Amino acid sequence: MCGIVGYIGKREIKSRLIEGLRELEYRGYDSAGIAVMLDGRIESFKAVGKLSNLEEKTKDFATNGSGIGIGHTRWATHGKPTELNAHPHMGEYSYVVHNGIIENYREIKEMLEERGVTFLSQTDTEVIVHLFEIEAECRDDLFEAFKATIDQLDGAYAVLLITQKAPGTIFFARKGSPMIIGRSGSGEIFFASSDAPLIGEADEAAYMEDGTVGFVTSETLYTEPEPLSFVPLQGDKMTAQKGGFRFFMEKEIYEQYEVMSDTMIGRVLDEDIVFEEIDDEFVDGITRIKICACGTSYHAALTASYLFERLSKIPVNVEIASEFRYKEPLLTDDTLFIVISQSGETADTLEALRMAKEAGLKTLAVCNVDNSSIVRMADATILTRAGIEKGVASTKAFATQVMVLWMLSLYFAKRRRSMEREAIKDELRFMSYVPKVLQKSLEVHEKCKRLSKRYLHGHGFFFIGRDIFYPLALEGALKLKEISYLHAEGYPAGEMKHGPIALADAELFTIALMPKTLLYDKTKSNVEELSARDSTILSISPEMFDLADDFILTHPHKHPMLEFFEMMIVEQLLSMEIAVRLGNDVDMPRNLAKSVTVE
Ligand code: F6R
Repeated sequence: MCGIVGYIGKREIKSRLIEGLRELEYRGYDSAGIAVMLDGRIESFKAVGKLSNLEEKTKDFATNGSGIGIGHTRWATHGKPTELNAHPHMGEYSYVVHNGIIENYREIKEMLEERGVTFLSQTDTEVIVHLFEIEAECRDDLFEAFKATIDQLDGAYAVLLITQKAPGTIFFARKGSPMIIGRSGSGEIFFASSDAPLIGEADEAAYMEDGTVGFVTSETLYTEPEPLSFVPLQGDKMTAQKGGFRFFMEKEIYEQYEVMSDTMIGRVLDEDIVFEEIDDEFVDGITRIKICACGTSYHAALTASYLFERLSKIPVNVEIASEFRYKEPLLTDDTLFIVISQSGETADTLEALRMAKEAGLKTLAVCNVDNSSIVRMADATILTRAGIEKGVASTKAFATQVMVLWMLSLYFAKRRRSMEREAIKDELRFMSYVPKVLQKSLEVHEKCKRLSKRYLHGHGFFFIGRDIFYPLALEGALKLKEISYLHAEGYPAGEMKHGPIALADAELFTIALMPKTLLYDKTKSNVEELSARDSTILSISPEMFDLADDFILTHPHKHPMLEFFEMMIVEQLLSMEIAVRLGNDVDMPRNLAKSVTVE
């Protein structure tokens, strides 16, 4: 997810901008850039990859003295992560940084090209700076030109623009993408897309409302439609990074609906799935798929095995990477070898990937961290675009992995003609509802908080489900044990009678995933069997269930994947609230590491 900063003041401008961007690093990015105006002249620098690359590029660039600057970390959506696509984007004499999406950028670009404008990047953002310069041609008042530019943009944006025609001025606008302006007692002005860069720098801040447009110099701050109201800026850097949530895990659960949109952007179209990262040649000759991963990523892989076989009619086999390494696996070159990893550094998964490469298989990584070891080794990578995940217990990374794999199964379904066009269109329609469903699912948080007090003891938890809800049960059990340290297991609902049901009594908690769209009656009979043995039942379902001791009612949906994502949120929130009541460190549970780089 992109980040924006801006600065007006007398302190070293470059460092203010880069330090500000560093505070936004946790959001994830793949390139960065700054533009600084001193004595009426603008200089701009951009670099792909980490901020240290930008620092290296600017090490001889001195920015002492009074001036202004804007900076940006870009997380590629329209166009690859290249220097040309990095912000700031420039016109003839102006520079812009932007977060969000300009939905009508194609129309604007065509219009500008007809007027002779040449574009350097593939981004939607670049239209803003050219449009501004066209508007400025016929006006003396540059704020009017800026407003006329903003008026023509559809979509979401937080924009900062500087121009050599107005030295010392930053023009800004906000709609649908956050932007905060801060000021210090000594008259400095700061901009940022979250308050983290402002903490410790600014004394007070104004959180701009949607529709705000304005300009600022060291003497004047003007906004429309209303003046901004400033409040004292409180908190420490850590609190700011958590965005007001108690834990990173909580923040990451709440972010899921947004990051899922990022995962889909440019890939999920009305009638098709498009992955820039792979092409027909890459999937040619593939007749089977093997997926290797660990932990939560393994659960995403298991979920995918149902989707691939059901939708793309392609045989799939899933293996835990640490097992795969030593089993002397038989690998055939008609197999696409997929590895899934949030961090891209998991030693077992990396080794499995190396083995597959050595055996001559085509390899594909589904990963959240660009330039990680796994990404560098795989033939192709589809990035999950979850942004940096800080909570050790994975949440949004899992959600985006499952989403990419669902998309991939439709990609294969189309190429293998295993689904009718209309059926694919229907799936895509349901897919596009996911962000809304995730947002709505958060309503259940209070209920999870209340219920959590009843689940702090007992001798164990069984999470049960069928079909894709079986890997989700595994994931629910893993989440709970990671942060609550309570014993939990995930099982296929139909498997209980083959042994585990022997444990059933009132102190055994069954968390039953009972979706209405998939095998409801079958799951229900399995839950009845447990209830008959006095297990305490918490049912998660859109339908009330008489035999449940507790229930969390989910919304009715018409597609199993929508039920899947809603139940995923319930599991995450419930585990977190249980861990909170037990007084555990939710973000850094004992004995666990975020990136497991040892065997
Ligand atoms: C659980 C969790 C772990 C990881 C596993 C693999 O919440 O995060 O189980 O999923 O260690 O890590 P990655 O996905 O980075 O390969």
